[in-house]
Amino acid sequence: MDAQPTAPLPGPPRPAAPRPGAPRSTEFGPLRIGWDDRVLEPRPWTTAQAEWGAALLTAGPRGDVLELCAGAGQIGLLTALGAGRALVMVDADPVACAWARTNAAARGGDGRVEVRCSPLEEALTPRERFALVQADPPWVPSDLTGQHPRDPLRAIDGGPAGLDVAVVCLQVAAGALLPGGSVLLQLGTEAQVDALGPDAARLGLALQEVRTFPRGVVAHYRPAAVPGASGA
Ligand SMILES: C[S@@+](CC[C@H](N)C(=O)[O-])C[C@H]1O[C@@H](n2cnc3c(N)ncnc32)[C@H](O)[C@@H]1O
Repeated sequence: MDAQPTAPLPGPPRPAAPRPGAPRSTEFGPLRIGWDDRVLEPRPWTTAQAEWGAALLTAGPRGDVLELCAGAGQIGLLTALGAGRALVMVDADPVACAWARTNAAARGGDGRVEVRCSPLEEALTPRERFALVQADPPWVPSDLTGQHPRDPLRAIDGGPAGLDVAVVCLQVAAGALLPGGSVLLQLGTEAQVDALGPDAARLGLALQEVRTFPRGVVAHYRPAAVPGASGA
C-alpha cells in the first residue's frame, strides 16, 4: 500500500514578536540598558567607542563628557560613569531621552547625568566646555536605510551621504571642547571620514586616528594646533 501523504506536524509555538514600544533590555559591557523599538537597539560593538573615550579621559583635561545623539545613552554612560565624570546627553527624540534618563538612574548616575531633549544646535549654552565629546549621529545614507528595516528611520537616516547630522556634531563639538579635549565621532565608513575632512578643517579639528570595526568606524579629532601658538 502506498504511504499516504500526511499533514506536517505543527512545530513548537513561535515566540511572539515584542509588542511595539514594549520595554526591552540589552547588556552593554557591564551595563544593562533599557530601550524599546522606537529607538536604536544598543549595538554591542559600540562599547569600543565608550572604552576608547574612557581611555582618552585618563590622559586628557579634567572636565565633563558630552554625548551628542545619545539615544538610550549607553555609550555616554559607559564612558563617563566609570571615569567618574559628569555627563550631559543630548538627543532630539523624547523617547530616547526618557530611556537615557531611566538608564542613568539605574546606574545611580542621576545627579551627575543631565539629559537635554533638544536639537543639537540648541542644546548648549555658549560657555559650556567639555573634556570629551562622544557623538553617534545617524550615518546611513538615505537611499540605503531600507537595508535596516528594524531600525527607526530617524535614528539612522543621515541624509544623502549619511553626513548631515555628523557635520552638526562636529560643529557643536568644536565649539564646546576644553583645550586638549577630544571628539570621538562614529560613522559608517572610512570614506565618510575622508568626506568630512574639509568640514573638520574648517571647524579647526585635526583628525588623529580612525579605528575600524566590522559594523562602523570611530574617528578621533582634537583641536588643531594654532600656527604660531607656543602653548606656553
Ligand atoms: C544612530 S542613533 C544613536 C543612538 C545611540 N547613541 C546608540 O548608539 O544606540 C542617532 C540618534 O541621534 C538622534 N538625532 C538625530 N538627529 C538629531 C539632531 N539633529 N539633534 C539631536 N538628536 C538627533 C536620534 O534621535 C537618535 O537617537
